[in-house]
Amino acid sequence: MTVILAIETSCDETSVAIVKNRTILSNVVSSQIKVHQKYGGVVPEIASRQHLEQINICLEEALTQAQVEWSRIDAIAATVAPGLVGSLMVGLTTAKTLAILKDLPFLGIHHLEGHLYASYLSEPGLEPPFLSLLVSGGHTSLIAVKGCGDYQILGTTRDDAAGEAFDKVARLLSMGYPGGPLIDRAAQKGNPQAFPLPDGRVSLPSGGYHPYDMSFSGLKTAMLRLVQKLEAQGINPLPIDDLAASFQTTVAKSLTRRTINCALEEGLDKIIVGGGVAANSGLRQHLQAAAEVHSLKVYFPPLSLCTDNAAMIGCAAAEHFNQGHISPLTLGVSSRMPITEVMKLYDRVY
Ligand code: KG4
Ligand code: ZN
Repeated sequence: MTVILAIETSCDETSVAIVKNRTILSNVVSSQIKVHQKYGGVVPEIASRQHLEQINICLEEALTQAQVEWSRIDAIAATVAPGLVGSLMVGLTTAKTLAILKDLPFLGIHHLEGHLYASYLSEPGLEPPFLSLLVSGGHTSLIAVKGCGDYQILGTTRDDAAGEAFDKVARLLSMGYPGGPLIDRAAQKGNPQAFPLPDGRVSLPSGGYHPYDMSFSGLKTAMLRLVQKLEAQGINPLPIDDLAASFQTTVAKSLTRRTINCALEEGLDKIIVGGGVAANSGLRQHLQAAAEVHSLKVYFPPLSLCTDNAAMIGCAAAEHFNQGHISPLTLGVSSRMPITEVMKLYDRVY
């Protein structure tokens, strides 16, 4: 049984976890949301400083909660890409220091692989092949997963990520940050049919539409025009719940249609969802219902594992470690790296 101590500091959550393959022994998450809220988004410099302040506290707490001896830990892992460079550096430096001090192997982990494998923690029997729908604050992709490190991107957003669209629309509606959970809550009280909105299709130069790519910028603009129109009509206060419900349902249906079509076309009967937007109640309902109609299985992580946490990073690290993958201690961080390049993080198969 592989025991991994994992660190996640790619954005605004400082997290340290200890996992035994696909079982969580501890998962300590210190969120910075309150610190960034007054700026309406994450401020990179503040995020790095907060990680520095929180990392040792999280580390001690994770070790205490897991109650494992250092001698039981097989490897140290940290998110190294993609993310905010200063923030990633805090996690990476902590992980390398521990690896050197304790003479343990080190693994750099791609953040999206963490989201991709989060469902393994609640469904330990899951194995590839499957289709992964990754919907986070920075990414939106449909990925065919053939094995650990073997990924093919079949569809992606041409502009904003799904979570980013939620955050921007919430800002437009003066709801606060982060927007996803706030829109989700308001949407549950609103009428999803109140306002028709565009589905975000991406046209192809050869004619027709891309089957799986999506665009959220048109939808965002449609929301802006709608709000301007309602304001010009003197409607005050704005029907926030109906606007939120119409927006959320449009995003959920758009992601659902592409995901189901992609799974059917590729002959993949399991769909695994990951990332912050996997917590969205509209997406969960629409995708679950459509999957049942087509006899596909869909897996969502528990809500606590949808947003950033180190347990999912530990889970991805255990998958790699069990295949003999280890990173060099000279590994650096990268703000951008496609998930298809993860094998560049490992130089050694022991
Ligand atoms: O995966 P994550 O924690 O961080 C990134 O890797 O980006 O995702 C954060 C994103 C934010 O944009 C947030 O608004 C969105 O996930 N989010 C949601 C919900 N909870 C978080 N979006 C829609 N509905 C939710 N319930
Ligand atoms: Zn994330």
